[in-house]
Amino acid sequence: MLSKKAENIPPFHVMEVLERAQELERAGRDIIHLEIGEPDFPTAQHICDAASGAIQSGDTKYTHSLGLLELREAIVEYYNNKFGLSLVPEQVIVTSGTSPGLLLVFMSLLEQGDEVVMANPYYACYPNFVRYLDGEPVFVHTREENGFSLEPDAVAQTMSSKTKAILINSPSNPTGHVMSSATLQGLAKVANDVSDSDSGSISNPVPIISDEIYQGLVYGAEDHTILEYTDNAFVLNGFSKLYAMTGWRLGYLIAPLEYIRPLQNIQQNFFICANSFVQHAGVAALRGPQEHVRKMVATYDKRRRYMLKRLREIGFKVRSEPDGAYYILADAREFGSDSLELSRRILEDADVAVTPGIDFGGGAEGYLRFSYASGLENIEEGMRRIEEFLL
Ligand SMILES: Cc1ncc(COP(=O)(O)O)c(C=O)c1O
Repeated sequence: MLSKKAENIPPFHVMEVLERAQELERAGRDIIHLEIGEPDFPTAQHICDAASGAIQSGDTKYTHSLGLLELREAIVEYYNNKFGLSLVPEQVIVTSGTSPGLLLVFMSLLEQGDEVVMANPYYACYPNFVRYLDGEPVFVHTREENGFSLEPDAVAQTMSSKTKAILINSPSNPTGHVMSSATLQGLAKVANDVSDSDSGSISNPVPIISDEIYQGLVYGAEDHTILEYTDNAFVLNGFSKLYAMTGWRLGYLIAPLEYIRPLQNIQQNFFICANSFVQHAGVAALRGPQEHVRKMVATYDKRRRYMLKRLREIGFKVRSEPDGAYYILADAREFGSDSLELSRRILEDADVAVTPGIDFGGGAEGYLRFSYASGLENIEEGMRRIEEFLL
């Protein structure tokens, strides 16, 4: 019989939208995809060459469970150079994507009933990770005018002796918001100086878990890492987004040194290591030319500005301009308050796939998430179809 946990885990709706869209395509329909959260660019040639070179030269065995030293060195070099830090490779665990990295962190931190504070709207999978490991997500109400950002004061009010971590995501999926330096600093302060609002007593500092998978995809905003503000943090990042490598499954976790050994034990038992030749591709991504990344960022920005303009013309409300990742979370209540139903109608009747806000929590109900990880021509056509359908 199925376990209760397996029975209760909800689907990832965006994948369901995608699968339904693909079903319609198989039936001969021409669907515009604005639901997908993955770059439409191919992985750069020099990265592909590094992987095939590694395969050809026989690098097809298990690696060290923490990952290739050369890759861990390249990762800390990247963070240290970009943010003026002094991380060491011993703090890094290479994983098969950010998602297994999140699992490692939650597995290492959570006991039954432990709380993880996070913003609502949130990346759809976060509460599912926490609940699967017997923790409790605690949602903090956010305001659209602030880009749905997690605000330090609001976080402080939800902290209790049960709080085990604060989870942040900047640039954010689904909002596209980039947290300011002041906000990150404020959150670090709240995490490190915890007073229990129930009893008034001071409890232990809690770590910040910072999902930085969209780092580098910023448009006019400043790029930051939580590690500029606190060492008591677990940082998740990877190659899926910035290097257009979603299918390669490569990510990493940067953790305080004292957590590395237990995290490594979990990694050895459940994952062994990340793919060997893919790790060589990761070294090439970080140490190779970056011009292709700059081009992708410039292209995303152009699409972002166009999509924002068109969505507003159609009648969607976007009250705080998203300046990161490749998403716009637009208020669609003008056209219907049930986002699942609205996205279903837009897909079935206008042949455009978009993600319902409800996938990202109650705070995004009545909203739709539009992804601009799709060519400008597709976006133009998608906007045209939606306009024709709704107006
Ligand atoms: C916020 C966020 N975190 C993590 C992931 C998963 O990334 P990865 O491909 O590294 O597992 C995604 C993918 O869409 C995401 O949007």
